Amino acid sequence: MRTIILTVNGLSKEVSVNDNEVLLNVLRDKLGVTSVKAACWKGECGLCTVLLNGLPVKSCMTLAVEADGKEVITAEGLYSDERAKKLQESFVKHGALQCGFCTPAFIVASHHVLSKEPDIDGEDLKKELSGITCRCGTYYQIYDAVKDARKYYKKDH
Ligand code: FES
Ligand code: FES
Repeated sequence: MRTIILTVNGLSKEVSVNDNEVLLNVLRDKLGVTSVKAACWKGECGLCTVLLNGLPVKSCMTLAVEADGKEVITAEGLYSDERAKKLQESFVKHGALQCGFCTPAFIVASHHVLSKEPDIDGEDLKKELSGITCRCGTYYQIYDAVKDARKYYKKDH
C-alpha cells in the first residue's frame, strides 16, 4: 500500500492504494463518487470516463498511482459550471437518456469536447464521443443535445 494525494472535484483527498489498484476503484469504493460507472473494467465501454488533469481517461484503465498529485473531475464536479449545467439541460430537452447509466460519462466527455472545440459537428463529434457506449442506443439524441449546447461554450456567449 502507498498513500496518494489527488484533487477530486476541487477537494484534496488522501487515499491508501495498492500499486495495481485502478482509479475507478478508488473513486467509487473509497471516495463514494458514484457517477463514475463500473461496467466492463476492460477499457471498452467508456462509462468510467473522467477528466484527469483536464483530459478524458478511462478510469478502469488508469492506475490510481498515476493520479497522484493530479486533478480528477467527474460529473459531480461539473454541477457548478454554468456551461455544463446548460449541457445537462440540453440532454433532458433532447431526451438524450433513457436509463441514464451512460449519461455522466457523456456529460464529462462532451464538456471536454465543447470546451476545446465549441464548433464541432458531424463526424468529428461522433468520433470524439465514440469511446462511450450507450446500451439504450440514444446516440442521435446525445449528438443533438451536444450540438444544441455548443452556443454556451462559445466565447461571445
Ligand atoms: S468500465 Fe472502464 S471502459 Fe468500461
Ligand atoms: S441511456 Fe441507457 S445506457 Fe445510455
